[in-house]
Amino acid sequence: MAITLPSGFEDMLPAEARFYHGFVETARRIFGAYGYVPIITPQVEVTELFVRGIGEATDVVSKEMFTAISGENLNTLLGGGHIKSKSRLTLRPEGTAGVVRAVVEHDLVPQGAAPAKLMYAGPMFRAERPQKGRLRQFNQIGIECLGAEAPSVDAEGIIMLMRFFSELGIPSESMVLLVNSMGCEKCRPAYRDAVRAYMAAHAEKLCDQCNERAQINPLRAFDCKNPACREVMDAAPKITDYLCDECRDHYATVLAYVDAAGISYVEDPKLVRGLDYYTRTVFEVQALDSSSAQNAIGGGGRYDKLVEEVGGRPTPGFGFALGFERCRIALEAAGKGVSDAPSCTVFVATVDDSLKPQAFGLVQRLRDAGVAADMNHQDRSLKSQLKLANKLQARFVAVLGPDELAEGLVTVRDMVGHTERTVPFDEVESALF
Ligand code: HAM
Repeated sequence: MAITLPSGFEDMLPAEARFYHGFVETARRIFGAYGYVPIITPQVEVTELFVRGIGEATDVVSKEMFTAISGENLNTLLGGGHIKSKSRLTLRPEGTAGVVRAVVEHDLVPQGAAPAKLMYAGPMFRAERPQKGRLRQFNQIGIECLGAEAPSVDAEGIIMLMRFFSELGIPSESMVLLVNSMGCEKCRPAYRDAVRAYMAAHAEKLCDQCNERAQINPLRAFDCKNPACREVMDAAPKITDYLCDECRDHYATVLAYVDAAGISYVEDPKLVRGLDYYTRTVFEVQALDSSSAQNAIGGGGRYDKLVEEVGGRPTPGFGFALGFERCRIALEAAGKGVSDAPSCTVFVATVDDSLKPQAFGLVQRLRDAGVAADMNHQDRSLKSQLKLANKLQARFVAVLGPDELAEGLVTVRDMVGHTERTVPFDEVESALF
């Protein structure tokens, strides 16, 4: 029996892979204009990084991590042995923790330095229950800005993300930007206590998991999908009533900058996001007419304590990530699906096989001149070669025939203009364009 992919994983076939490359390129161009430069960190980190960075009580850490075991460690485990915590490895469920680890390890934000503005693109891994828009391996593009606390960083990040979505072609009316402030270490404890007390008063209506959450991390209950819990949490105390003066000012300034950029948003005091590292600004962009229940196409926020959590000196941070596969679903919903682009500009056909060496030489010359070119590598008649050129959506077909070639000529058909002309064999590159 043929071996197939496990569920939750996807192949990116050529049309989609090409679309993905264009997607990353667009991000690179737009984010580059805001000063973001690329960073590539490994797809595996020590498990401890995610436990400390993302938070033990989050779904991502408590249920969804793929922990990687080397052959040697597997043998140790099977033999009843213990693996040292430094050797416990996990496939990254998100990109922020790894980037922050790299920033600390390589001291990318020395004291007094300008903020480090970093962007990344690549696969992330979460052992979630697969469904449309929810994969076990998915691709994120993300940015992280480390070393600046100013609300202008948050605002420019939000504006940049919305600009990316709109350049991609997701209509502004088919997405909504939700924003909130989660407060800081000064004001959040009182809020957390208020939510805990509120949950205790409604314990009988909450699910077992939420009652458990109330003890460890009550804010996670805002993410519960259970309708009864949702109803209870809808009336829970609002963080915005608990913000300290600094957090309130920071939030107001972020919103003022976003307003000035003409970007609309909805304030959602229940938006807490699924990762524990956030402080102050959090935001999420949801696709409205997506055919998938998983409609968050991107999200992020500020994390002013994460660098210390990972062992660095106090350094504020802000970032976001967006999901390629969910953006693709949102684009399809907007009637902008992935299309098959031509991979060949000039197809070189031969009247008979004896001319293959000349065809081989011509395609090399065309490629050297930067023109995408291909030839017949199989046993095909001229008619079948022309069909193939059509399938490849080649703009031109150069037909090599023995008589013409003897005179140093080649026939070129323009497949779009439906014209044909004869050009010198040695000048095909320059004659075509
Ligand atoms: P996140 O909200 O967990 O944030 O993920 C960001 C985006 O990744 C989501 O909005 C969604 O589009 C996509 N995504 C997440 N899980 C899946 C999945 N299972 N299948 C398909 N797509 C998915 C973060 O990861 C944070 N690191 C963002 C951030 C950066 N915050 C600060 N800096």
